[in-house]
Amino acid sequence: MRSKFAGRIKNIEISGIRKAFEALSGDFFNLGLGEPDFDTPEHVKIAAMQALKSGFTSYTSNKGIDELREAISAKLYRDNNLAFSPDEMIVTSGASEALHIAIHSVVERGDEVLIPNPGFVSFAALTELAEGKPIGVPLSDDFSISAEAVKEKITDKTKALIINSPANPTGAVESEENIKALVDIAHDHHVTIISDEVYEQLIYDDLKHISPARFSDDVITVNAVSKTYAMTGFRLGYVAARSEYTEQMLKVHQYVQACASSISQKAALAAIAGPQDCVVDMRSEFKRRRDFAVDALHDMGMKFKIPKGAFYIFPRVSDEHEFVESLKRKRVIVTSGSTFGSRGKNHVRISYATSLANLKHAFDIMKGIVRGD
Ligand SMILES: Cc1ncc(COP(=O)(O)O)c(C=O)c1O
Repeated sequence: MRSKFAGRIKNIEISGIRKAFEALSGDFFNLGLGEPDFDTPEHVKIAAMQALKSGFTSYTSNKGIDELREAISAKLYRDNNLAFSPDEMIVTSGASEALHIAIHSVVERGDEVLIPNPGFVSFAALTELAEGKPIGVPLSDDFSISAEAVKEKITDKTKALIINSPANPTGAVESEENIKALVDIAHDHHVTIISDEVYEQLIYDDLKHISPARFSDDVITVNAVSKTYAMTGFRLGYVAARSEYTEQMLKVHQYVQACASSISQKAALAAIAGPQDCVVDMRSEFKRRRDFAVDALHDMGMKFKIPKGAFYIFPRVSDEHEFVESLKRKRVIVTSGSTFGSRGKNHVRISYATSLANLKHAFDIMKGIVRGD
């Protein structure tokens, strides 16, 4: 009998992260979350309230309001050394939708998409939704995605390569040299790069974020205000790419989304065009927590790479499920490494997007478990 539901949907698993959260009840020390615990900056909230009060509550242009696209264009130039006109971008409902329209517009049935393994859960799922085939590229020991590893996985079906620096779940940051090598490989094999840059502002230790689009026109840059400005619930992101790409992506965006929320667009405008000290403050607090977490894990004798960006640490453990469950029994939540791909096995993702007090409590409990108390 014919199945009632489409195979491309049935075969996709509900995200392991969501499943874990939805099963929780009561109070937990949550080191599983992938979102800043900070409040949205006041001037951003005011902009959203003003949008509401002034009745700015209708559909906007599909691409997004002009002022916001102008602000994004200026931001890309200021922060990323990228020259994209306001016509070369689409404002989306978060980076999630941005990734969806990027993948959907380049991937056909059977096309292969190279994704980091371990990597953010949506990369594989969105590829499957587009009836493409996610191909995991094993990360190096330092969690970077090397050009050699990518080259080994390229076939004549490879259509896209997803780069995510700083990375979820590892916190790795790619060097300029490596980004250039990846761009070269992609260019040689006519592969489009989709660059997920949602953590670009969360880099520590004087490293610099490098956008692949600096070196090639065949790059779709994905970003959002979600992580940078503690605005995950506003659902506001964007893609920037040459117009041959945005013209195709706009069709998907137009029919599945129409436009991003008008209120969130005004809030994002205040965030991107407004004062950036809130970003500096949040970054320095995340760095404090990163340093605290690194010291605590070193103290426990855990093995891990020091993360250079985002707000995650990805230590190795002997049995991830046992570790996750023992912590959960003591009301501390972390995420199993396998959630992020086969190479995440026997790791856990610890998010330090929570207060130092929570971190201290959670690490005390973890210490007891590691020592077998
Ligand atoms: C690497 C990465 N890309 C995209 C997203 C989704 O961002 P948004 O909330 O803007 O849809 C996340 C959220 O965790 C992420 O970690």
